[in-house]
Amino acid sequence: MDTAPEPDRVPAADLPPGAVRPAGQWAVVNDRGRLAAVSRRCRHQLADLAQGSVDAEGCLVCPWHQARYDLHTGEMVSGPRGFLGYHGPTPGYSGLVKRFGQLVRLRVRRAVRRGDDVVVLD
Ligand code: FES
Repeated sequence: MDTAPEPDRVPAADLPPGAVRPAGQWAVVNDRGRLAAVSRRCRHQLADLAQGSVDAEGCLVCPWHQARYDLHTGEMVSGPRGFLGYHGPTPGYSGLVKRFGQLVRLRVRRAVRRGDDVVVLD
């Protein structure tokens, strides 16, 4: 008997407004009550975006060099502020990575509340 795979999920109690949590290959975000899910690997140096944060404009911010992503499109809207172990101004480099992040966007999925969980839909 075939069974459909279980969707990736996170307990809703672990996802208060402003939180970002891992669910399988997804970073699940609660932006002031609006739920979203994007793929977890930053387009810059592959940091885990599930360890990131949400800023005042509703963008997902990478925990390593603060590249910012649009949760609707997966597009990088601001480039990194550093690379490897360096954190600081990198004007030309940041712009180059931003252009790459606009072309190679994060994957985006809908996330919805289902019972006590938030599930990521295909
Ligand atoms: S790894 Fe995400 S901005 Fe550098």
